[in-house]
Amino acid sequence: MARALVHIAALIATSLACCAHAEEPAPFKIAANGIAESLTGSSGDAVKGRALVLARTTTCILCHSAPLPEARFQGDLAPDLAGAGNRWTVSQLRLRLVDASRFNPETIMPSYYRTDGLVRVGRNFAGKPILSAAEIEDIVAYLATLRD
Ligand code: HEC
Repeated sequence: MARALVHIAALIATSLACCAHAEEPAPFKIAANGIAESLTGSSGDAVKGRALVLARTTTCILCHSAPLPEARFQGDLAPDLAGAGNRWTVSQLRLRLVDASRFNPETIMPSYYRTDGLVRVGRNFAGKPILSAAEIEDIVAYLATLRD
């Protein structure tokens, strides 16, 4: 009996360790003002990325405007995202979303995938990025389609 309990406890510990780990950001390499490799190892889904940029949770269009006719109120605190796919490479777009302060240390744009250097992050959020790697890739895929 005791032996079975020890076994179950070990199983629970292993499964928690698995999931806690899944929340941690994937390692990425910054080079030449960008992140060349996909955070997930594959390319994102531009349709999902469009929906994410529209979603209130990401707050993108609180600051930006974008070619999204269904969004009635759009921001004017930041450049229009139209044409972003011409102005920036995929690698640069990925780094911008991960850590916008790499382009402008004073930026008001949130760092959506950086977890180091953030002060006073709530304990539940420590080590957890705002968006997942897959969400970053979906948004990158969408932004790359925004060509003039
Ligand atoms: C709080 C305001 C704010 C939010 C929220 C925000 N951004 Fe930005 N973003 C900026 C500002 C300001 C710039 C201009 C450069 C700078 O200051 O960093 C910028 C620059 C950019 C650029 C480069 C624009 C260009 O073509 O020159 C892209 C692409 C971008 N943001 C995408 C996004 C996406 C996608 C989201 C949501 C996931 C987002 N931003 C959320 C403020 C914001």
